[in-house]
Amino acid sequence: MAYLLSKENFLKMSEFVYRKSGIYLEEEKHYEKLAKYIDSRASTLELDSFRKYFFKLRFEDKDGEEFQALMNGVTVNETYFYREKDQFEALVNKILPELHKTLPASKTLRILSSPCSTGEEPYSMVLHIVEEGKVIEERDIEIVGIDIDSTVIEKAKKAKYTERSVHAIPKGILSKWFNKKSLGYELGEDLQGSVDFQVANVFDKVQMRNLGKFDVIFSRNMLIYFDDASRKEVAMTFYDMLNPGGYVLLGHAEYMSRIVSVFTAKKIDNTLVYQK
Ligand SMILES: C[S@@+](CC[C@H](N)C(=O)[O-])C[C@H]1O[C@@H](n2cnc3c(N)ncnc32)[C@H](O)[C@@H]1O
Repeated sequence: MAYLLSKENFLKMSEFVYRKSGIYLEEEKHYEKLAKYIDSRASTLELDSFRKYFFKLRFEDKDGEEFQALMNGVTVNETYFYREKDQFEALVNKILPELHKTLPASKTLRILSSPCSTGEEPYSMVLHIVEEGKVIEERDIEIVGIDIDSTVIEKAKKAKYTERSVHAIPKGILSKWFNKKSLGYELGEDLQGSVDFQVANVFDKVQMRNLGKFDVIFSRNMLIYFDDASRKEVAMTFYDMLNPGGYVLLGHAEYMSRIVSVFTAKKIDNTLVYQK
């Protein structure tokens, strides 16, 4: 079956997606997925050619809905609780106690999960913080989770998870903070609302500035989808968003030293962190 999206037009689409989101779509890996997405979207919108769809996307999308739908169709949202768990341990055992000591007493400590996908990463921070218990007794901590994909943000707000998603949470912690449901687990009432979830694009300077300043930024498993120029741009955005002395933590396959040299790399046990 022929798709509306030809191989030549794939290039136009991938340039458009790259410019707007930093996501680099490769023909070999992404043509099929994007072509199916455009066929289905064009059929919903009753458009009979790629040209009409592309025109709508670029020039008739004043409220950004069509771009949002496209982003929801092309992102990779894979995540789970306690993924790369050493980093959550570094956060609660070393980073938060250190920041707690140095920040003025009245200041709220702010952590950003960017991107947060369906919420497992920021809720893993919450679970570690409440389980550790000490810092949270004395200091207000605010956790913000952002993602470009509005469907994952809606899911994160509902906080309902599959067995697969919670598999790495120690059993005692799972039964303490979650309610077992027929189709998985729901975060308990005590922790509902503990993360402020928002749809935001890390390349949108206004959206990022409006989030304010942070003391810690987790940005795991997103930069791998970007090319060097986009990684650099995002790393500098994070640098600007961090308070002096603040930290960035990346995914295990991502290295700040290969992107920018403005941070100081430090090792906390097995975890590499980057300080402003
Ligand atoms: C693989 S998930 C990573 C989730 C979590 N940080 C983790 O490591 O488990 C990557 C997420 O990056 C989001 N993303 C991709 N481009 C983005 C952008 N320009 N701005 C914000 N989020 C983006 C995707 O929607 C997706 O949910």
